[in-house]
Amino acid sequence: MSKITEAHAAHYREHGYAVVDNFLDEEELTGALDDLREVLPGWVEYCEDPTRPAPVFPSQSRAPTTVFPYRGDRLNAITMHPELRRFAAENVGHNDIYCEQSHLHAKYRGSDLDRDQAMHCDFANHTLAYPPDLPEYWQTAYLVYYTEVTAELAPTAVCSWRHYPEKIRWPGVYRRREERPEIFDNERRIIVPAGSLFIYSMRTFHRGTTFKADGGRIAQFITYAPAAWKWLGIVGWSAHGVKPEFRRWMERATPAERELLGFPPPKHPYWTEETIAGVSARYPGMDMAPYRG
Ligand SMILES: [Fe+2]
Repeated sequence: MSKITEAHAAHYREHGYAVVDNFLDEEELTGALDDLREVLPGWVEYCEDPTRPAPVFPSQSRAPTTVFPYRGDRLNAITMHPELRRFAAENVGHNDIYCEQSHLHAKYRGSDLDRDQAMHCDFANHTLAYPPDLPEYWQTAYLVYYTEVTAELAPTAVCSWRHYPEKIRWPGVYRRREERPEIFDNERRIIVPAGSLFIYSMRTFHRGTTFKADGGRIAQFITYAPAAWKWLGIVGWSAHGVKPEFRRWMERATPAERELLGFPPPKHPYWTEETIAGVSARYPGMDMAPYRG
C-alpha cells in the first residue's frame, strides 16, 4: 500500500505541502537510528535523553559524512525510497528524475542551527533560475524526521499556498511578520512522531522554529528534480566521489539507482569498450553486465 496516499497528493497540490505521519515502518526507523548512532555520534542518545552532554555536529555545513552516500546502508536506502521516487515522478509526469539532495540536519536547543528562521521558499539554493507553477519543473522536497517533533522541539512551520495567491514568489524571503502577516499568522507547525515525512515544494513558504525545551531533532533533507534541467539542484554528486562510502554505494546500487544520481544509463552511447573498462577499474565491485548489452 502506498505510504503517500491520494489524500496526501491532493493536499500537496492544493496547499503546497503534505505531512505523512509514520512514513517509515518500524524496521526502517530502527535501522536508520542505528546508522545515525554511527554517523552522528551521540546525537540519537542526546535526543533520547537531553540531560546527557550535548553532541557536536561534524561541521555545521554539510560535512562529507552527513551527505549521501552515508556510512549506513539504511540512510542510503531511505534516500532512494521507492515512495519518495514515485511521488516525485508523479509530480513531474515521468520517471526521468534526479536525486538533487540528501543530507542530514541535526540541531538541539542552543546549537548553531537553533534559530527562528525567516519565512522563505527554498529555491534560492535549489535552482539558478526560478520555480514556475508548471509541474514539469517541480522539485519535490522531503524532510524525514528521525526523532519525535513536539511543539517544544523546533517544529518546522509551513504556510499553505492559499495564503499567498500571487503567481510570482518574489521576494522569496520575509524576515519580519509585518512584511507579510498573513503568511506568518497562518503557519502550521509540523508536530509528528519519529519516522514521519514532510513534503514541500520550492514554491512553499516555511521556516525553522526554535527549541522551547532541552532536546534535539535529527532529520534528513531529500529532494528529487526532473533530470533534464541542469539549472536545478543543490549539489553535484561527483564532489563526493572521493569518499569511500561513494564507491561502496556505487558498486552495490542498481543501474536505476545510479541513474538517480546522474550516472549514464545502460544502452547510453557513453558506454564503449573504453568507458566500461575505465568505470570498472574505478569501481571494481560494480557489475558491468547491464552496460555491456
Ligand atoms: Fe527551507
